[in-house]
Amino acid sequence: MATFKTQVVSAHEDGAISAAVQQLVAGELVAVPTETVYGLAADALNDAAVQKIYAAKGRPAHNPLICHVTDADMAARYVAVTSLARSLMGAFWPGPLTIVLPRRADAGIAPTVTAGLDTLAVRSPDSDITRKIIAKLDRPIAAPSANPSGKLSPTSAADVLEGLSGRLPLILDGGRTGVGIESTIVGVRDEKLYLLRPGSITPDDITAATGQPVYARDDSTITAPGQLASHYAPTAAVRLNATERQAGEILIGFGDVAGDISLSASGNLSEAAHNLFETLRKADTFGQDTIAVAPVPNEGVGIAINDRLARAAAPRD
Ligand code: TXA
Ligand code: MG
Repeated sequence: MATFKTQVVSAHEDGAISAAVQQLVAGELVAVPTETVYGLAADALNDAAVQKIYAAKGRPAHNPLICHVTDADMAARYVAVTSLARSLMGAFWPGPLTIVLPRRADAGIAPTVTAGLDTLAVRSPDSDITRKIIAKLDRPIAAPSANPSGKLSPTSAADVLEGLSGRLPLILDGGRTGVGIESTIVGVRDEKLYLLRPGSITPDDITAATGQPVYARDDSTITAPGQLASHYAPTAAVRLNATERQAGEILIGFGDVAGDISLSASGNLSEAAHNLFETLRKADTFGQDTIAVAPVPNEGVGIAINDRLARAAAPRD
């Protein structure tokens, strides 16, 4: 793997967007902000460039990538946009919803993006910076979260630099991300909806917008190879549903459980999602053996937070 002196450039600086596009055209990687977490982007039509994503992250080859597009029309070049998919896009794009759809054969998506699947995940991110980059490139960008595989997702340019310094030429700094956890992923098959990964857009939101039920992933034949048991792992071990600190622990609070640091002192789930990865990172810097985490209600966005926490606490290889 080539090594770089990684530059962090403010996305609002003159020429920043052009510099990013130039790197992508040259087949290099650029870390870009989105509303959820930072992404590690490559030109999705350039297989050699997409392979660099897997190398930089140490990502297993069987785990496919999300293609980021400007809008439904751009998505339609690469996937079959059914009428249900069109209504999801109309309701939630741009925004933190990824939709897995039948891939158009021979539309040019690099084979490495989809890891051999006949489906493609598409999403239109709600970040002006990244939307301008995609529009200027006039090609989708493949982008997983910009962290070494298995580690905490990045919500700032500094997080990206900490994990991937030297493995890419350029990080665009667009400030801290808003949502804080990765997009909701929904699969559409035979005009039925399946939840592949929970996020800030909930099944209730999706049903309210489309009138359709959202089925569990297990009820579908859609492969979701990326949902690994252990992921988002801090250095310390993680203990869930803790209401008190034990010896050798730092306690992350929520609501009435104050803790040493809190996801949200007022018990607000969106605030907790916004703070989740940053708080886990901060907790790690205390150098304790274990990070204990207060219970988070398993409703609304709390379902996505508990999904990430369960993976952070899962046994590691
Ligand atoms: O918010 C997000 O979605 C962020 C930002 C950067 O956009 N991206 C992100 O990417 O979270 P990543 O690679 O960390 O997670 C993508 C997930 C993986 O679990 C992968 O397996 C799944 O999407 N995925 C990608 N393509 C798929 C497909 N065709 N079928 C099923 N799952 C797919
Ligand atoms: Mg990820």
